[in-house]
Amino acid sequence: MPAMITGWGKCLPPAVLTNDDLATIMDTSDEWITSRTGIRERRVSHVGVADLGYVSAMRALAAAGREPEQVGAVILATASPDLLIPNTASRIQKLIGNDGASAFDINAGCCGFIYGLALANGLIETGVHESVLVVGAERLSFYLDWSTRDSAVLFGDGAGAALLEPGVGGAGVLAADLGCEPGAGEALMIANFGTVMDLSSWDGGPFDQRFDGQEIFRRAVRGMHECSMSALKRAGLEINDCSMLIPHQANLRIVESLGKRLRFDADRVFTNLQRYGNTSAATVPIALTESLEEGLIKPGDNLLMTAFGAGLTRAAAVLRWGERTTPVANATAELPPCEKSALDLIQA
Ligand code: UT7
Repeated sequence: MPAMITGWGKCLPPAVLTNDDLATIMDTSDEWITSRTGIRERRVSHVGVADLGYVSAMRALAAAGREPEQVGAVILATASPDLLIPNTASRIQKLIGNDGASAFDINAGCCGFIYGLALANGLIETGVHESVLVVGAERLSFYLDWSTRDSAVLFGDGAGAALLEPGVGGAGVLAADLGCEPGAGEALMIANFGTVMDLSSWDGGPFDQRFDGQEIFRRAVRGMHECSMSALKRAGLEINDCSMLIPHQANLRIVESLGKRLRFDADRVFTNLQRYGNTSAATVPIALTESLEEGLIKPGDNLLMTAFGAGLTRAAAVLRWGERTTPVANATAELPPCEKSALDLIQA
């Protein structure tokens, strides 16, 4: 029996960094960023990934009407963990008040949430766990070099989460397709952060970012299209059987090209990158949560999710939604207040 999403939630840090703000610190403009990417603003976090993930997780648990101790596994998809040892999933587990679940991080770049969804589905289908929390949380602002305009304008911070439990009435993860193109890995890479670091020469300067936007763009459209078609085939469905496409939110032009290639009507393709930029592993669960908040998902709908990111990873999943499209309850968890502006945060 496949696993279905029974709870969902998001957490966006409050500090908003607009394109005009960016134009005060680098040679860019609102016109360039909006016309080339669709992005108008993004969030900058004053807290770490565990805190962002914790709030989104509490909201997902409340939406499902479940208590933290009922969670059997916490999977955190992130490329910006607070710590490597111990994993940041265990920190989220502690913050939500769960003792005893399995907890692990996965790093599949922007595809992390969909990879996590497939893993959670496997854990539930094989009876290892009955309830799995998948969190996608990122604080990418940590890595960004604010003097590098081609990449710094694209990314933002945030978190989203989903609780998965055994599916009922045919609802659940119907199929997934996951892959990676390692030969093109250097198109999106931070080459000097990790145990490869030469600590004797580390001066705390900006990270060595490799970023080939056009190469990623080309591969993203093709990769998400191929994965989506393959996941649909595995699910025994056609594009027209899906009510919505919830794609990774990197660039509006990528989303539009993908939508056209898949022949999805534009009004059935969800976007929110205008407000948040690319939040990597957090984009899909944030977009899913907002699709539900906006009433775009109906009981029994088939949804197609797809993503592409560092690796270069690619992923797609087809889900059949259950009966409930509104939260059982709302959580009270909130981030601590932020006293600083987004510009103050990044300049610090
Ligand atoms: O999820 C995976 C993560 N990856 C991505 O999100 C990246 C996907 N790629 C993209 O979104 C696009 O390729 C970009 C938005 C990164 C770039 O768009 P583009 O249309 O491919 O622009 P370009 O790289 O061809 O640059 C065009 C011009 C260049 O100037 P010249 O050489 O034509 O004089 C750039 O230097 O735009 C310049 N440029 C900028 N100008 C103002 C690059 N970044 C900026 C900027 N503001 N922020």
